[in-house]
Amino acid sequence: MIEQAELGRGGPRVGRLGYGAMVLEGLYGASEEADAITTLAHAIDAGMMIDSADAYGGGRNETLVGKALGTTATEAFVATKFGIVFDDNERGTELPTGWGFSLNINATPEYVARSLDASLARLERDHIDLWYAHYLDPATPVEETVGAMAAAVTAGKVRYLGLSNATADEIRRAHAVHPISAVQYEYSLWRREAEQDLLPTLRELGIALVGWSPLGAGFLTGQVAQLEENDFRQNIPRFSQDNLAANRDRFAPLIDLAGELGITPAQLALAWLLHQGEDVFPIPGTRKSARIDENAAALEVALDADTLARIEAIARPGLALGATLV
Ligand SMILES: NC(=O)c1ccc[n+]([C@@H]2O[C@H](COP(=O)([O-])OP(=O)(O)OC[C@H]3O[C@@H](n4cnc5c(N)ncnc54)[C@H](OP(=O)(O)O)[C@@H]3O)[C@@H](O)[C@H]2O)c1
Repeated sequence: MIEQAELGRGGPRVGRLGYGAMVLEGLYGASEEADAITTLAHAIDAGMMIDSADAYGGGRNETLVGKALGTTATEAFVATKFGIVFDDNERGTELPTGWGFSLNINATPEYVARSLDASLARLERDHIDLWYAHYLDPATPVEETVGAMAAAVTAGKVRYLGLSNATADEIRRAHAVHPISAVQYEYSLWRREAEQDLLPTLRELGIALVGWSPLGAGFLTGQVAQLEENDFRQNIPRFSQDNLAANRDRFAPLIDLAGELGITPAQLALAWLLHQGEDVFPIPGTRKSARIDENAAALEVALDADTLARIEAIARPGLALGATLV
């Protein structure tokens, strides 16, 4: 079992490194169902919090998690999300992203309640350990959304509440309605905006930061040279042909540093995040069990002050070229 820490002040103890299951939905390349279930079970057995969402694969991802839970006796901590509309028959509010397309968001109390029962059925569970609003709904006050989520806690269907991609102000308003245990936001050596307003607010309120795309959607592993045509990262400006080449040059010293330390670039990126505080929980995704072990070994990497200063000097905020999300 990997090292555990409190998820939010006084919260449950979960693995300091989680497993992001979105990667199993073909965004970065195909994955067979049997392999996906084996990989998920491997992450569960390692003691990693599983991160899913109802929208991943249009419900398929939660179904996979449910199947994986049936293959292992290890008690799992399962996080999932609602709010991105993925059924053409459902209505929502348009939310533009920096990826050149819009998301459709519904976080009305009525949709919140329906989403919960659908997720529980797919997961084949009677409860969700950590339930996030994936994005807040521009047309629904956050108090109404969180009020409906709190009702799920009262009903015993959800243990802890989370928000994803929310602002510091929205988090304060939500936390006043019901304690929020974790906030999920993109955080990595090439996306450090979370350090500005978000992280100080979370620390004041005793909320954990769950960092998504901790490997920069694979970029920080140093292994992304050229993208396949159907690769989702084609939509991300940081991965456009010109930006990707420039970014590889800009971040090359990090790859060299990992070599000097005798660790992989992925381990360096994760170890740096883990050194930002016990309240930061990276959730890397991979389709390969061996890489789960490689990433978990980042927990054993101790970066001294000198090395941390060298990393800061290389990967200073704003270094990456190209926009990311909202
Ligand atoms: N809340 C949100 O809005 C939001 C948004 C995005 C993501 N997320 C969550 O965050 C999780 C992680 O984010 P992500 O999957 O976008 O990006 P990520 O974890 O930063 O990177 C995933 C990519 O890195 C590769 N990889 C992983 N470990 C590796 C290693 N040791 N060596 C080389 N390559 C490695 C994977 O490829 P292989 O599969 O080939 O190993 C995959 O292409 C998601 O799965 C999802 O659960 C949440």
